[in-house]
Amino acid sequence: MFGNMPELKIGHLRAKLPIIQGGMGVGISLSSLASAVANEGGIGIIAAVGIGMNGGAIEGDFHEANAEALRQEIRTARSKTDGLIGVNVMIALTDADRLIEVSVEEDVDVVIMGAGLPLKLPRFIIEKGFDNIRTRFIPIVSSSRAAELIFSHWGKKYSHIPDAVIVEGPLAGGHLGFKSAELFQAANTLENLIADVISAMKPFERQFQRPIPVIAAGGIYTGEDIYKFLQLGAAGVQMATRFVTTGECDADIRFKEMYLDCQESDLRIIESPVGLPGRAIDNEFLQSVVEGEKKPFKCPWKCLRTCNFEKVPYCIAKALILARRGKFYYGFAFAGANAWRAEKIISVHELMDAIKNEFRHESRIMRPDKTQSRPCLAFDHA
Ligand SMILES: Cc1cc2nc3c(=O)[nH]c(=O)nc-3n(C[C@H](O)[C@H](O)[C@H](O)COP(=O)(O)O)c2cc1C
Repeated sequence: MFGNMPELKIGHLRAKLPIIQGGMGVGISLSSLASAVANEGGIGIIAAVGIGMNGGAIEGDFHEANAEALRQEIRTARSKTDGLIGVNVMIALTDADRLIEVSVEEDVDVVIMGAGLPLKLPRFIIEKGFDNIRTRFIPIVSSSRAAELIFSHWGKKYSHIPDAVIVEGPLAGGHLGFKSAELFQAANTLENLIADVISAMKPFERQFQRPIPVIAAGGIYTGEDIYKFLQLGAAGVQMATRFVTTGECDADIRFKEMYLDCQESDLRIIESPVGLPGRAIDNEFLQSVVEGEKKPFKCPWKCLRTCNFEKVPYCIAKALILARRGKFYYGFAFAGANAWRAEKIISVHELMDAIKNEFRHESRIMRPDKTQSRPCLAFDHA
């Protein structure tokens, strides 16, 4: 693997670059970012969570507002690119099935299922039959156990398995698939998890007679990182944090500036009302939650299966949608462990060029026959 990045193959799909842009809710990755990534040869992902709230307060049916907004967003993305477009659906959402249904109706290339184990498939998929659906399905897992559970359940119940699997490690942004105590255990590094999941997929590859691409996510920031994970056997990577500081990212400029202004020490783990830990940039809003100043609220939506709105101190959907609009007094920004590294806002085209160069450079340095002829550096003799 020397020089250019290889393409990513998922079933019949071919992405020119092995990069999936991670779905970012609420409203951080919509049609603008997703189509820009797709135009560069990656897979652009629209985050479906709370998508109907982007235009302001929802009056009427919350679920139908989300479904309609998602449909429009997919169509807008399609109008801007011929590349590969997908949708991220959080399984913990009460309208997850409906959002998957709209994505399939709109023929998106991939549906990525995060924040929960997608064991029970929506009825319309079973009725339609996988052979009549072009969309490829990809769960996100944080352990080989979760991957095995999903693949063996689908295999037994549906005689079909997901088309690829994303392994998300503990350095990711947003909700994390670990208990807080497990986050920093050595066994849970992304490097270890990737190796575990690749070997856990072997029996399914044999049984179903097809390759299962394993995609690495969480803390992958540079072309060097991509090179490393491809060498470890990943077929591609999912990256989110690095795409936030692009001109095309769908968030308000103040959201992107939170990333530019933060320090490494500002990134912290929070206990989210979703019932999972999450990584975010610390701010006054999060401080006031810790200090117990936020109180249980009324909930007009019940958007999450796992949120007990009478007990949790704030509405996470509201906090995230307001942060997306730059109103940090009322909310906060999710971010991956590398968010502090961003220095300026650039276009997705410039970012992809930078990543390609980083990858090329790393592949040259790591090429075995080149290591001998590496130029002598001053500190080599120190
Ligand atoms: C602002 C933000 C919002 C996110 N929202 C979602 C989401 O709605 N659904 C999901 O499955 N993952 C979500 N994620 C996780 C990303 O899709 C991705 O897998 C992860 O952040 C990868 O790590 P990286 O950010 O270090 O590249 C989010 C991440 C960030 C930074």
